[in-house]
Amino acid sequence: MKLIIDTDPGTDDAVAILIALAHFTNDEILGITTVAGNVKVDVGTRNALRILEHAGRNEIPVFEGEAEPLERELETAEWVHGTDGLNFVPFPEPSKEAEGSGAVEFLRDTLENSDERITLAVLGPMTNIGKLIRDFPNTKNKIEKIVFMGGGAGMGNHTPVAEFNILVDPEAADIVLSSGVPLVMMGLDVTHQAISTKERIERIVATGSETGKLLSGLLGSLLDIEIVKQKFPDGTPVHDAFVTAYLVDNTLTTGEVVNVEVETESKLTIGQTVVDVNNISGRHPNVHWMNKVDDEKLFSIITKTSELLK
Ligand code: BDR
Ligand code: CA
Repeated sequence: MKLIIDTDPGTDDAVAILIALAHFTNDEILGITTVAGNVKVDVGTRNALRILEHAGRNEIPVFEGEAEPLERELETAEWVHGTDGLNFVPFPEPSKEAEGSGAVEFLRDTLENSDERITLAVLGPMTNIGKLIRDFPNTKNKIEKIVFMGGGAGMGNHTPVAEFNILVDPEAADIVLSSGVPLVMMGLDVTHQAISTKERIERIVATGSETGKLLSGLLGSLLDIEIVKQKFPDGTPVHDAFVTAYLVDNTLTTGEVVNVEVETESKLTIGQTVVDVNNISGRHPNVHWMNKVDDEKLFSIITKTSELLK
């Protein structure tokens, strides 16, 4: 597999990236592209570099992406991920900088010049990918599939019906959802089913590795947020981890191929993913929408990550 990770790191993005680093080689991970979302894009870029520094994987290039959504003002989520984006979990300072070219340019050149199709793991707002597909539609043919964290059927986490990644850039999500590229959706439907309980975090720490300590910091860091605590008293979801864990083991989740569209206009429901779970719209099924998860499997993959990376 050839993989590019598009991300707004972010505590759960960090978990997702560590999973990928543990299970895939530098030949498989062609690059990391960053996008504005949880934090401003320069902070996210630095975090991507810090994660690679920790894992000793600086050969993987990082490309800074879009600083603003396609048509809207950026909304960030420092209240969830901290002003540094990693909730002050002590990743090292980076010794390397991002590459000179931007994310969309890298995605375009890499896809255009690749003999094989490339999988995109999308962990943040879809601005980079939406812009790529809008401006360079031919690159679609080189995308094997897009596995993304975003949306939910009838539920949200930043509004009653909108999930953060989709809410930040609904126009970009609309381009991706209507692109015809094979799409796998890891929405709140599955991410809310796998919780980082104390026992699971202890299992990760028991591996004794530095990565285990960092993972436990990341997984535990949301526990003190009041609104999260009310909904998830026993631990928190690890949204983005689903994307890379699924690439490690595609039996992690199961679902159905259905139509998913995004609301881009209504004040009340902007950013809602309308998931046609009962297949009643007659619209074309465009998304492999995941709705069941083997939650133990997710945490085994995270524990394994901590063993493999040391
Ligand atoms: C998504 O929003 C971000 O805060 C997380 O990193 C994740 O990608 C969850 O709604
Ligand atoms: Ca994210």
